[in-house]
Amino acid sequence: MNFRLCADRWNSMEFIPPFPPRPKTSLSVFELLRRGTQNFLNIWEEKAFEYQTMSMQVLARQVFICNSPDTVRHAFITRAENFQRKSPQIRNALSPLLGDGLFVSDGETWKQRRQMVSPVLHTSRMDQFAPAMVETVGELADRWAALPDGATFDVLKVMAQLTAEIICRAVFGRTLGAEHAREVAEAFTEYQKYVDQSDLASFGLPSWVPRRNGAKTRRATARIHAVLDGIIADLQRTEDDGSVIRMLMRDGVLDATALRNEAAVIFLAGHETTANCLSWVWYLLSQAPEVEARLHEELDTVLGSRAPTFADVSQLVYTRAIVEETLRLYPPVPLLAREAKEDDTIRSRKVKAGALVMVVPWLLHRHRLYWRKPDHFMPERFLPGSPDAPQKYTYVPFSIGPRICPGLSFGLVEAIICLASLARGTTLRLAPGAVVEPVCRLTLRPGDTLPMTVWKRTAAAGTRPVPAAASAQRCPVHHG
Ligand code: HEM
Repeated sequence: MNFRLCADRWNSMEFIPPFPPRPKTSLSVFELLRRGTQNFLNIWEEKAFEYQTMSMQVLARQVFICNSPDTVRHAFITRAENFQRKSPQIRNALSPLLGDGLFVSDGETWKQRRQMVSPVLHTSRMDQFAPAMVETVGELADRWAALPDGATFDVLKVMAQLTAEIICRAVFGRTLGAEHAREVAEAFTEYQKYVDQSDLASFGLPSWVPRRNGAKTRRATARIHAVLDGIIADLQRTEDDGSVIRMLMRDGVLDATALRNEAAVIFLAGHETTANCLSWVWYLLSQAPEVEARLHEELDTVLGSRAPTFADVSQLVYTRAIVEETLRLYPPVPLLAREAKEDDTIRSRKVKAGALVMVVPWLLHRHRLYWRKPDHFMPERFLPGSPDAPQKYTYVPFSIGPRICPGLSFGLVEAIICLASLARGTTLRLAPGAVVEPVCRLTLRPGDTLPMTVWKRTAAAGTRPVPAAASAQRCPVHHG
């Protein structure tokens, strides 16, 4: 698949990072399903970034897309109860891994689990979580500092291992270890690759129709569950060590399976999303020299020669703006899909019970009515007082309403601390020949791997030859 835009208007503030070609007209149902299975981002026609609602019939199901602030508010807030249930595709895709865990459950189970999990991750605990973030990323910063300039690694994998280790230390109160971090990161990549997300059965075929690649996803699931079971067994063996996850173990409300399901949700929802966000940040910085320079300026001013702590987060406004702009352009969860419980009417259109009702951050975050230069990478729009700040309900990387991500503060603080900590001492550049193509199966990633080279930041001052962003590796994919 050729990508239309890669580094448009190179070496200027006007950087447009890659997105898949947008068909001029809407696709047939067959083409929609064919493309959607490979990459959910490939199905959107030009006009989808202007329409405020879209309604279509896909096999046996009505699909309705809320693509304006009022329709997002209607489905996810005003009538949230009616659109609480996740789509059958998401449930089928994730339940082998998460069982009836919070992310995929609804009704009474969701309500009970939400009440238990939200306090575990509450914003008021951030000062408690931050030291584990600072410590873990500090270790990675030291490892990077010891590498020779130009050393290459897969940033996607390294970020996944970093955030897996952080969630384990911060929430589960124990060290995961490099081997287990690698095991979880690799197995979840495998899982995403083989899971049959578009799942034709959900569009009308009977549920006994065999799913594709079941054996491979089962193997990946077993690898992840083995790591989680080891962590839970260790928790059960040891005295109360104050780790917050014990809040879910009190009073025996959750049986062993339910406990593992919630542990799996927190572990997977809590590391994959931030890892993808950070990977995109590194790619974007490598292509946008002015943004990178401004980031370094802020880090030098706020931190000088020391590592960041939680107390610095509120001062790192540009670092935060980079993270927020990255979450706009590449929302780790680019599709929020629900199944309507009862008939409803949205903007005078009838939405039938059983319809798939979607909010698509990938569309909403690049919508031409709500954003100036919607495809440009411009962190400045998220700075306090910016005239380009997002309107309410047009920016939803963490979802909105009762199902809003309970790890929002955790994820933001983590991304800011990790970026500040690593960018202080090092600069990353895209490795020669690397191709970056946004791909979404369960989450939005810059491809299967993201090879980049690491350079000490002192080199940028001229003592050693770090490739300037402008002359570094440009995305070699031809623009159609
Ligand atoms: C940049 C980081 C993150 C992003 C962009 C993100 C995004 C999201 C989104 C969009 C949802 C809702 C999905 C839907 O409605 O279909 C969600 C749910 C969830 N997230 Fe996050 N998340 C992030 C980090 C985290 C972290 C760090 C944790 C835990 C420590 C976490 C835990 C959860 C849980 C438990 C849910 C399920 C909530 C429910 O269904 O009630 N997330 N996340």
